[in-house]
Amino acid sequence: MNHSITFFDQQFSQGATPQALALNPFETLTLPHLRGEVLDFGSGMGNLAFAAARQGCRVTALDASQAAVAHMQQRATAEALPVRAELADLRQYLIGADYDAIVSIGLLMFFDCVTARKVLAELQQHVRPGGIAAVNVLIEGTTYLDMFEPTEHCLFGAAELLQCFDGWDIVLNELSTFEAPGNTVKRFATVIARKPA
Ligand SMILES: C[S@@+](CC[C@H](N)C(=O)[O-])C[C@H]1O[C@@H](n2cnc3c(N)ncnc32)[C@H](O)[C@@H]1O
Repeated sequence: MNHSITFFDQQFSQGATPQALALNPFETLTLPHLRGEVLDFGSGMGNLAFAAARQGCRVTALDASQAAVAHMQQRATAEALPVRAELADLRQYLIGADYDAIVSIGLLMFFDCVTARKVLAELQQHVRPGGIAAVNVLIEGTTYLDMFEPTEHCLFGAAELLQCFDGWDIVLNELSTFEAPGNTVKRFATVIARKPA
């Protein structure tokens, strides 16, 4: 387990507080675009996965945090919702099916840049024609680095994520900055794009 996975696993182990179960701003932007079969790649506690399931999607949620996956499996049973949660290290993961929507919010920056770009291409390949990809990453200018493995992370260029969706229909393209502990900032790029049918 690397530092990033441990960082989030400890956070998720503290339990399902109302704050931990709230949709973050990127999940809120993404939810209205989700239909059909959805893959949440790096789902965390599965807040988006469960919100999507409640609006009729069938969701596969993957994450490397045991605490998050255990929480999602219990919640799927308790709420009888179609969320299949699995533990997976997504650095080397090959996606075995195609989906109407693939979401990866706040994951790829935890991989080295070569791996991050390779995994993004793998995600894009498994979106069905006419389907949606929703991707959010940290970008250059981010100074909050506590959750990173020092030798294994990637801050994307400000325009890089959008460029990776060349040829797709861009539904949303947003750069945002949030204050973080210790007078630092997190800068994000978010792209929601539709694969040409
Ligand atoms: C910033 S959180 C984002 C979670 C969720 N998508 C959200 O928007 O709240 C990053 C997530 O990436 C997961 N993660 C980090 N490295 C991973 C890896 N190598 N394989 C799978 N998941 C990983 C963490 O466990 C955590 O759930």
